[in-house]
Amino acid sequence: MVSLCGLLVLVLANSVSSSYPEDEEGANNLFQSWKQEHGKEYKLLGEDFGRFQIFKNNLKLINKLNGMYKGKMTFAANKFADMDPKEFQRKILMPKRRAPTFESSRYIKSKVNDPLPDSFDWVPKNMVTSVKDQGAAGSCWAFSTVENIEGQWAMAGKPLTNLSVEQVVDCDGMEDIPGKNADCGVFGGWPYLAYQYIMKTGGLSTWNDYPYCSGDTADKHHPQDNCMPCPAPGFNASLCGPPVPYCNMSQSCVAKLNKAKFVNGLQLSSWKAIDQNETVVAEQLMKIGPLSIAINAELLQLYHKGVFEPHHCDPKNLDHGNKLNCLNI
Ligand SMILES: *[C@@H]1O[C@H](CO)[C@@H](O)[C@H](O)[C@H]1NC(C)=O
Ligand SMILES: *[C@@H]1O[C@H](CO)[C@@H](O)[C@H](O)[C@H]1NC(C)=O
Ligand SMILES: *[C@@H]1O[C@H](CO)[C@@H](O)[C@H](O)[C@H]1NC(C)=O
Ligand SMILES: *[C@@H]1O[C@H](CO)[C@@H](O)[C@H](O)[C@H]1NC(C)=O
Repeated sequence: MVSLCGLLVLVLANSVSSSYPEDEEGANNLFQSWKQEHGKEYKLLGEDFGRFQIFKNNLKLINKLNGMYKGKMTFAANKFADMDPKEFQRKILMPKRRAPTFESSRYIKSKVNDPLPDSFDWVPKNMVTSVKDQGAAGSCWAFSTVENIEGQWAMAGKPLTNLSVEQVVDCDGMEDIPGKNADCGVFGGWPYLAYQYIMKTGGLSTWNDYPYCSGDTADKHHPQDNCMPCPAPGFNASLCGPPVPYCNMSQSCVAKLNKAKFVNGLQLSSWKAIDQNETVVAEQLMKIGPLSIAINAELLQLYHKGVFEPHHCDPKNLDHGNKLNCLNI
């Protein structure tokens, strides 16, 4: 696992306009069509008005950011445009924290000798599964871990397979008491602990056998496909904070985990950390495969496309787990 700021390319399909209206009428027209496009219906009294105020502020912010980054990366009114940045932080990202440090034997020793290419990408090499939607849940850390393993599995010559993120969200209650970190399901977690959970439990199911259902991601017409899993065995409320107020036992790890369905032969024997030096990260990405990384993702809320490279980025405030497939220098 590594942490870094920048050096990440993401692509979201969405339309971007050169500049958004900031006046009441123009913003309101856009808000109406945006709600339609994203299937948004606000049910609470006054919510529509409140969401519109947030949307308008976000339009101003997007225009400002597009001015600042001048096309190097662009921002747009995507599906998170009705969320206050603090709400995005709370619901989608994780509490901000520092990167953990590990004993030195954990780190991959690296000497960068060869010059790095200008660009490199694992996606066309068929080592990366499709982009997923975590929904309104702080489960990025589980996606990040599982997708790193998908890459390693494919790099080992096995068929590229969507593996189960929900298994890790539901079942991993690992804790690192001296480091004061824990895996907390929809409230955040750490890839280094998730690797330890997978080593301990002995494997992973496929996505199809144990599908993702957290974060309200089900199709509007199939709300029954959403789930409310109970906290993982070992969930530490003093490290994680209070658990979900309501949960359904039959949608939880104890009811759903079936070790007989673990992918045959898929086992983790160890995990390694990579230095935060971006040259080393680039070199290891090419050598090892898609990596699990942690980033400061404040600016990702309204991100549209381009190389994600914020001007100000505090690497001590990590709040998002991601996978790094490609580099662009
Ligand atoms: C990062 O690593 C490269 C290659 O080993 C080295 O040349 C460079 O000085 C390092 N940068 C920092 C900031 O340590
Ligand atoms: C992974 O799941 C997605 C979404 O269901 C699907 O489109 C894709 O083909 C799957 N990838 C593999 C390698 O099975
Ligand atoms: C939960 O974490 C705290 C540290 O904040 C630790 O003292 C305690 O032993 C942990 N509880 C369990 C059940 O592991
Ligand atoms: C709990 O989950 C089961 C299995 O998904 C479902 O059939 C049941 O309706 C759920 N119960 C409640 C109260 O939502």
